[in-house]
Amino acid sequence: MRKKIIAGNWKMNKLPNEAMEFIEELAPLVKDTKNEVILCVPYIDLFYALLTVQGTNIKIGAQNMHYEESGAYTGEISAEMLKAINVEYVIIGHSERRQYYNETDETVSLKLKKAIEVGLKPIFCVGETLEEREAGKAEEIITNQVKQGLSKVKKHQLQNLIIAYEPIWAIGTGKTATAEDANNSIKAIRNEILKLYGKEIAENIIIQYGGSVKSTNAKELFEMSDIDGALVGGASLKADEFAKIVEYDK
Ligand code: 13P
Repeated sequence: MRKKIIAGNWKMNKLPNEAMEFIEELAPLVKDTKNEVILCVPYIDLFYALLTVQGTNIKIGAQNMHYEESGAYTGEISAEMLKAINVEYVIIGHSERRQYYNETDETVSLKLKKAIEVGLKPIFCVGETLEEREAGKAEEIITNQVKQGLSKVKKHQLQNLIIAYEPIWAIGTGKTATAEDANNSIKAIRNEILKLYGKEIAENIIIQYGGSVKSTNAKELFEMSDIDGALVGGASLKADEFAKIVEYDK
């Protein structure tokens, strides 16, 4: 049985003191859950967040990283730097980075390879645009993103990789994919993993849904056969709301 993993993606929100206050509020609310809880916070909040989650069941992730170890890349952060302060997860290939910062399937594949080599657990994002969906190309687009992104990752390196299916038209819009549509897209991704890596990996890999997940729709989504949790944007910014998503099964 795959477990449910619920990750918050704060995007460019919360100052360090707000991050610490949030975690202090969230920790008691989720302490008894059997679901995994992750917060992916801005770089500047990482250290404070890591200190504040000590002794709790909350894990911390970053939202991006560079694929080179070091060098003349002004403003960038390497996988080694994240690992050095004990960051556990890192989001890779989020659609906002693909749209606004020239992230491509090639850079995503380099980052996934590097993250895994260093021992970070990637949350690898894929998703189609509205035009692609309306043109009937959603499955082709997302399975191709999966294939390209994982092109440098070997079978034995997949235990700690999470995939997040986030249809771009559902991000921050209040429009959630129906639970059936989200489940079908995730099944298509699982089928691609089956083709690439075989049955055991396909059955065990965690695939989340992301896009306007809230406490009011989490249960319906998470009860679908193939949806293993969520990557949550806006609704992860309020501790009580995020806790309700994590505790959807209470
Ligand atoms: P929202 O939950 O705000 O739609 O954002 C989803 C997302 O992009 C998470 O990575």
